[in-house]
Amino acid sequence: MIKLKSVNEINAIRESCQFLAETHQAIEKLVEVGITTLELDSFARDFIVKRGGIPAFFDYMGYPASLCTSVNETVIHGIPSKRKLESGDIISLDLGIDYKGYFSDAAVTLPVGKISKEAETLIRITREALFLAIDQAVTGNRIHDISRAVYNHAKNENYGVVRDFCGHGVGFSIHESPQVPNYVGSGPNPRIKKGMVLAIEPMINLGVDEVRVLDDEWTVQTMDKKLSAHWEHTVAVFEDHTEILTL
Ligand code: MF3
Ligand code: CO
Repeated sequence: MIKLKSVNEINAIRESCQFLAETHQAIEKLVEVGITTLELDSFARDFIVKRGGIPAFFDYMGYPASLCTSVNETVIHGIPSKRKLESGDIISLDLGIDYKGYFSDAAVTLPVGKISKEAETLIRITREALFLAIDQAVTGNRIHDISRAVYNHAKNENYGVVRDFCGHGVGFSIHESPQVPNYVGSGPNPRIKKGMVLAIEPMINLGVDEVRVLDDEWTVQTMDKKLSAHWEHTVAVFEDHTEILTL
């Protein structure tokens, strides 16, 4: 069941999303050669808790951290560790906040030091795919219009599009209906309605579509170990426009 949100509820979700955007900005400033992903995670946790929020991913289905730090061939759900970031790495920072019971979710992919041209292009195209997808997230369209926008933009570059993980509804909890796939499949394709709050999140690979989950049961890695990028925003659908809440 898709839980539509009232304007008052969207106002509360927006607060959570703005808190998340501030947190992201603060973490992003710390990304540089030599910092560990564990340091990024503890910074995020302290920043959120000091301001009265709850890191939404911590302990979600047993996830052991507040932040997902996915480096290079890791697509999503990278667990923070003592690994130091190196020049040439790309890192996805994915974070969710529960603020007063309202949930937000967003991710960015950033360069560390000097990265290759192909890594730069992958990051840019993935981000563009997110914004093209958001353009489709309007009343009257269907969820697959969002999916198609991501898919076409990525396949136009011959990139891999992750099929095993999707975007999702968000707001009253971290994962709600509907699923928002990054490809057009045969699954549910509901019409987009005012009051929907969606986390749209293209996960795009330099190589193949396929991914695998490592033995830690979280880390999702590209099957061919080529680079992957991930961008995500939480958006709210109104009658005549759609607002990016996590900008
Ligand atoms: N940000 C992820 C998503 O968009 C959620 C991470 S789940 C966690 O679906 F368990 F890793 F926290
Ligand atoms: Co998400």
